[in-house]
Amino acid sequence: MADITTEVLIIGTGPAGSTSGALLSSYGVENIVINRYHWLANTPRAHITNQRTMEVLRDLGKEVESEVYLNAMDQSLMGENVFCESLAGEEIGRMKSWGTHPLSKAEHLLSSPTFMNDLPQTFMEPILFKTACKRGSRARMSTEYKSHVQDAEGVTTTCLDRMTGQEITIRSKYLIGADGGNSLVAENEDLPFEGKMGVGGSMNIYFRADLTKYVAHRPSVLYWVMQPGANVGGIGMGLIRAIRPWNEWLIVWGYDINEPAPVVDEAMATDVARQLVGDPELEIDLISANTWTVNDTYATQMSKGRVFIMGDAAHRHPPSNGLGSNTSIQDAFNLCWKMAAVVKGEAGESLLDSYTAERAPVAKQIVTRANQSIGEFGPIFEALGMTGGLDIDQIKANMDARCGTTPEAEAQRAALNSAIAFKKYEFDAHGVEMNQRYASAATVTDGQIEPDFALDADLHYQPTTWPGARIPHAWLFDQKGDKHSTLDLAGGGAFTLFTGLGGRAWAEAAEQVSKALGIKLEAHVIGPRQDYVDHTGDWARAREVGDAGCILTRPDQHVCWRNDAMADDPMAELTRVLAAILAR
Ligand code: FDA
Repeated sequence: MADITTEVLIIGTGPAGSTSGALLSSYGVENIVINRYHWLANTPRAHITNQRTMEVLRDLGKEVESEVYLNAMDQSLMGENVFCESLAGEEIGRMKSWGTHPLSKAEHLLSSPTFMNDLPQTFMEPILFKTACKRGSRARMSTEYKSHVQDAEGVTTTCLDRMTGQEITIRSKYLIGADGGNSLVAENEDLPFEGKMGVGGSMNIYFRADLTKYVAHRPSVLYWVMQPGANVGGIGMGLIRAIRPWNEWLIVWGYDINEPAPVVDEAMATDVARQLVGDPELEIDLISANTWTVNDTYATQMSKGRVFIMGDAAHRHPPSNGLGSNTSIQDAFNLCWKMAAVVKGEAGESLLDSYTAERAPVAKQIVTRANQSIGEFGPIFEALGMTGGLDIDQIKANMDARCGTTPEAEAQRAALNSAIAFKKYEFDAHGVEMNQRYASAATVTDGQIEPDFALDADLHYQPTTWPGARIPHAWLFDQKGDKHSTLDLAGGGAFTLFTGLGGRAWAEAAEQVSKALGIKLEAHVIGPRQDYVDHTGDWARAREVGDAGCILTRPDQHVCWRNDAMADDPMAELTRVLAAILAR
C-alpha cells in the first residue's frame, strides 16, 4: 500500500513541473508536485519569455498573464543587443532584437494578443507554482524522487522525505518527470536520447552593481563582450545580462570543457566582472557563482507507458535563443489536456502517444537551433580578426584595421555588419518561437497538404489553420466593443469550433456532440450581430475556410480539423473527427 495516492505525480517545480500542476489543477485533475529542494529557483536562469509562452499563461488566466507583465522587464527595454569590447570600451555593433525592430514588432503585434518580455526564472517560477497550489496541486518540498515502478494500472514512486529521512511511496495513474537536465526519471526509464552532454563549459556570475552609466542609453537585456578567450566554451561570446535594470546582473563566461571546471570564488568573479565591464575598480556585490555545461541532446521518445518527461529532462541545450523554459511550459500545455482527457475517461490512452509524436520534433528543433546559434558568433570574431590566436597586439591591429579607408577595411566592415545582422537567427527568430505545427493522430487533416512557408520559417511566423498549427490570432469584438483574440475563444480546457453565419448548423451539431461524447466543446458563430464580430475582416482573411466551413481547435489552441464548407451531416462529421482525435 502506498503512503499517498493521486492521479498525477509531477517531479520538479521548475517551469515544466509548475505549469503542469497549474494546468492539471485548472482542468480538475488531482496532482502532487514535488521538489527535492525547500524552495524554487534560486538563480535567474531563464528570462526571455516568448509570445507562445505568454499565450499559455494567458490561457491559465488573465491574472497570471498580468502578474508576469507586472514583474517583467518590458519588451521596449530588451532590444538594443550590443556587441562591445567591454561595457566601458568600444561598441563594435548593435542589432535590434526580441521583436523591437519596427518590422519585427509589426509581426509580433499581428501574431498574438501577448507581448514578449524578460522575466527572470526567480520571478516566473513563483507565479506558476502559486497558480498550481492555489488551484489544487498538493506540493511537497524537500522531497526527492528516487525510483518508480509502473504496472498496468499505475505507477508507484519512491521518494525520500529530506526533512525526516523517511522513504515515502506515492501511487499515481501517471508520472511526469519534469526534473531538469539531469533527469533521473528519464534515466530510470532508459528513454532514448540523441546527441551529447557536456560539449562546452560555462560559468554564471550573479551580482549586484550599478552599471546605469554604461547601459541606460542603449537598453538591452544582453550585452555581448568580445575579448580574447570569449569564444572558448560558453555560449559563443562573453555575456553581461541584465536581470533588473540596471543594478542586478548575470555574467556568462566560458571555460575549456577539456580542462577541470574552475572554482569561481569571489576574487575570480570580481576579476571576470571587471574585465567584461572594462572597469578595473569595479566593486561587485556577488550573489552567487557556479559552473555549468553546454549540452546538445534531446529525447527521441518522451514517454514510456505511464511515465512522461518534459522540459530540460527531454531537451538539453544552451540558453541561446532563450528557448528552454519557454519550450518546457509549452510541453506542459501539449501534454496536460491529453492527460486530463484520459484521466477523466473522455479519451482513450493512445491519445497520450501523440505527445511524443508532437513534441519530440520540437525538442530536436530547439536543441539544434540553440547549439547552432553558438557557432554563428564565429563570423563576428572572424570579421574582427580575432580567430588567429591569442596575441593581443595582433588582435588589436586586426580590429583597428576596420577603421581604415582601404577597400580591405571596407570589406571588413561589410563582413562585420552582415555577421551581426545574421544573429537575428538567435535574437529575433520569431518563426522558431511560433511556427510549431503538429503531425500526429491527434489531428485530422483529411489529406490536406501542409502549406509551405513563404518566408524563412526560422525568422517569420506564418499563420495557417492547417490542422496541426496553432489557431491564428485575430481580434474579434463583442457587442460592448471589447476585443478578444481568437486565442481567447479557444483553449480554457475545451475544444472550440469556429464558424461563420453560414455555418450555424456546425454550432448546433457541436452542442449535440459535446453532450453525446461528454466533452467540453464550445462553438462560436462569428459574424454581424453575433456574440463576436469580425469588424476588421482579419479573421475572414486568416481562417482559410469558407463562411459556412468550420475550424476545430484542441484545448492547447492548435487546430485539429477544418472543413471548407457545410457538410451534409455536420454531427456525423464532428463525431468522426473527435472520436479519432480522442482515440475512442
Ligand atoms: P528545471 O531544471 O528548471 O527544474 C527541475 C526541477 O526538478 C527543479 O524543481 C528541481 O529541484 C527538481 N528536481 C530535479 N531532480 C529531482 C529529484 N530527484 N527529486 C525531486 N525534484 C527534483 N530558457 C528560456 O526559455 N529563456 C531564457 O532566456 C533562458 N535563459 C537561460 C539562461 C541561463 C544562464 C541558463 C543556465 C538557462 C536558461 N534557460 C532559458 C533555460 C531554462 O532555465 C531551462 O530550460 C528551464 O529551467 C527548464 O525547466 P524545467 O522545469 O524543465 O527544469
